[in-house]
Amino acid sequence: MAQRPDGASPVEQRAMARALELALRGPRSRNPQVGAVILSPSGEVLAEGWHRGAGTPHAEVDALAALPDGGAHGATAIVTLEPCNHTGRTGPCAEALIRAGVARVVYALDDPGDASGGGAERLRAAGVDVVAGVLAGQARALVGPWLTAAALGRPHVTVKWAQSLDGRAAAADGSSQWITGPAARADVHARRARADAIVVGTGTVLADDPALTARDGDRLFAEQPVPVVIGTRATPDGAAVHAHPRPPLFYDTRDLAFVLDDLWDRGLHRVFVEGGPTLASAFIAAGLADRVLAYIAPVLLGGPRVALTDVGVPSISEARRLRVSERLTLGDDLLVVAERDDDAHRVAERDELPHRVAEHDGNPPTADSARASADATEGES
Ligand SMILES: NC(=O)c1ccc[n+]([C@@H]2O[C@H](COP(=O)([O-])OP(=O)(O)OC[C@H]3O[C@@H](n4cnc5c(N)ncnc54)[C@H](OP(=O)(O)O)[C@@H]3O)[C@@H](O)[C@H]2O)c1
Repeated sequence: MAQRPDGASPVEQRAMARALELALRGPRSRNPQVGAVILSPSGEVLAEGWHRGAGTPHAEVDALAALPDGGAHGATAIVTLEPCNHTGRTGPCAEALIRAGVARVVYALDDPGDASGGGAERLRAAGVDVVAGVLAGQARALVGPWLTAAALGRPHVTVKWAQSLDGRAAAADGSSQWITGPAARADVHARRARADAIVVGTGTVLADDPALTARDGDRLFAEQPVPVVIGTRATPDGAAVHAHPRPPLFYDTRDLAFVLDDLWDRGLHRVFVEGGPTLASAFIAAGLADRVLAYIAPVLLGGPRVALTDVGVPSISEARRLRVSERLTLGDDLLVVAERDDDAHRVAERDELPHRVAEHDGNPPTADSARASADATEGES
């Protein structure tokens, strides 16, 4: 499939940036978030759309639906994902664009799904001008975890911790509130709101009694991850997690693969692990951490409570080397985001884009915004 990212005009590039914003309005989890903008031949925005979940129109068809018959004749469709070429519940988008008389299609990411790919060829065969790869990096950043999850057949897992400059996750007595400052904690909450599930071990629940909500100041974000507690010890009846707006999930096991399978089946595909050192190390040792977020504060704690314990690295030659994808200064603190960079993950991020409409939309309902309860742990929880 020809890639001509430089073939897009500045107006089209701006429209793609807008389409990426629109994509964020779509559901998370099993479906990728896709946005679309329809431009007139002179570059005015005629319509906008986004994909609202399985069984509903794809983004480009959603945008076309806002126009009267003939309203897209000669127009340019800007879409964050290649228009599909298969007849599912909603019909092929490539055909819908051709029928609507669209003259040009500009998209960001290819859709190589066996059933759905090939939309660009179909459009070209019908005489539509097609440009691919525009703002592909941003589009990949938006759906990257979805791509990884779809390629690996399990949820995408981010493991996050806050640490002192000397690598401690808590002081010698176990207290860890707060290692980092307000800007770092706000960053964690914003990232939490983009996750489907937030996971801790029983150790963190018993030590810190976290609320596990995603908050903007003292308000809850509209989007809340499902709180998940893993471990064989019981969570006390009065624990703050019981007051979470989403019903918590408790797994009386240490079998992380089992937990991830179950979360996958529930449509919870972006998992944010905020446990203590035991759970973080267990995910990494099991090879189940796709991304690591280390918030590093300029404080020294010393003592035995290191951020990670045994991650299955007996010798430096077997170190788990990651690729840094983001570095941020947050007040006095630093955030380093690092990704696994093995073959499976590179393939997932670069090439894999399976069929974009799952048979079932597993997205849990959105929680209403509500007042946040007081909260405890340094795990930005
Ligand atoms: N700095 C930070 O970012 C941060 C974040 C959170 C907590 N903390 C601090 O960390 C401390 C708590 O640490 P922690 O390590 O006990 O908490 P944790 O990692 O959240 O919980 C540990 C527990 O997880 C359970 N578990 C589930 N799956 C497991 C597996 N595959 N392998 C091993 N254990 C598994 C076990 O519970 P069972 O024994 O019940 O089976 C284990 O005891 C507190 O001091 C807290 O303040 C710091």
